[in-house]
Amino acid sequence: MIEDKVFAILERYTNAHLPPTIFPNFEFDPEKCVHCKLCAESCPTSCLQWDEEKRMPYATGFKGMDLACIACNNCEAVCPTKAIRMRGEYRVLYGRYKTPDDKVGEMRGPMPFGEKDIERDFGDIEKELTEVERVIYRRRSIRLFRKKPVPKELIDRIIEAARFAPSSGNGQPCKFVVVTNRDVIDKVDRQCAKLLDMIKWMYAGKDKWRDIAITLSSYFMVNEMDQRPIAAIEKVKQVGGSITWGAPVVIHVLADSRGIANPPLDTGIATQNLVLAAHSLGLGTCYIGFIASAIKFLPWLKKDLHIEYPYELVTSISVGYPRGKLDNPVARGPVPVEWIE
Ligand SMILES: Cc1cc2nc3c(=O)[nH]c(=O)nc-3n(C[C@H](O)[C@H](O)[C@H](O)COP(=O)(O)O)c2cc1C
Repeated sequence: MIEDKVFAILERYTNAHLPPTIFPNFEFDPEKCVHCKLCAESCPTSCLQWDEEKRMPYATGFKGMDLACIACNNCEAVCPTKAIRMRGEYRVLYGRYKTPDDKVGEMRGPMPFGEKDIERDFGDIEKELTEVERVIYRRRSIRLFRKKPVPKELIDRIIEAARFAPSSGNGQPCKFVVVTNRDVIDKVDRQCAKLLDMIKWMYAGKDKWRDIAITLSSYFMVNEMDQRPIAAIEKVKQVGGSITWGAPVVIHVLADSRGIANPPLDTGIATQNLVLAAHSLGLGTCYIGFIASAIKFLPWLKKDLHIEYPYELVTSISVGYPRGKLDNPVARGPVPVEWIE
């Protein structure tokens, strides 16, 4: 029907701002809770908070979002007693950021051997996995770091893993800037956090003008207008503006802008080598995209990070020894796959 087609096209370009969304379900068993607070502390957004009086976590929304959850399930992964369960799905029902129909479905844990794994314990599945698969399923983004410095040799070692990543035409367009100087880390964090907080203020809250402004902005910056980072910026504020989560080392990943074909893709591939190698060595890492997003508007910070032509910042990685044990597998949404045989 012609009306259906018109509606489908309209839907694609409207409702970018705080779209109607199904969020995961938060289940909590107070009997099992040991009050370590790690769930709330490691939540990347302002979703999971700690109620000091009741001595238990609670999940909450944020200015127009029913639940400020990005469904990463790190709260569940870090809980030592399995007191928390996040299940269900994150699904945008319509509008600019509508979840594609082939991505709709329950979050599930790793199923490397297919549907039969749904009923199996990950401990049993893991026995049949390769070393690389284990590292892939157990790596989590770490946001709780110990102050303990990371030996230079370990940083060199994880960068060496990045050097052997595939790249277009073997062009190796990456450069890594390793920052351990606390003043530099704090300065970059502080200034980026301030800017992002202004963006959050412009985005958060439901009203007609914001709806129009955000939807229009999404025509020009479709990758920047998704609702999910907004509550993550609020969390950064709640932890005192530390975008890089107080990590002792921040590695900024740069791409040579003249590289062959797609330098940011090559850089991403190399970075994931680094991140997996770090996990295998007992180090925690967290990708920090917020710095690359903010630094476009704060060009003077590039000098502090030695970023100059032909290099551009692609992303940053916090690195350090994790506080708490956060290396459990989590449930994830489905990935669309089509076979053409
Ligand atoms: C390119 C990129 C940028 C990211 N930026 C941030 C960030 O700025 N801050 C943050 O806390 N996490 C950031 N993350 C981490 C994601 O939130 C995380 O990978 C996701 O929630 C899945 O959780 P997991 O890594 O523990 O499996 C980023 C991840 C990627 C790949």
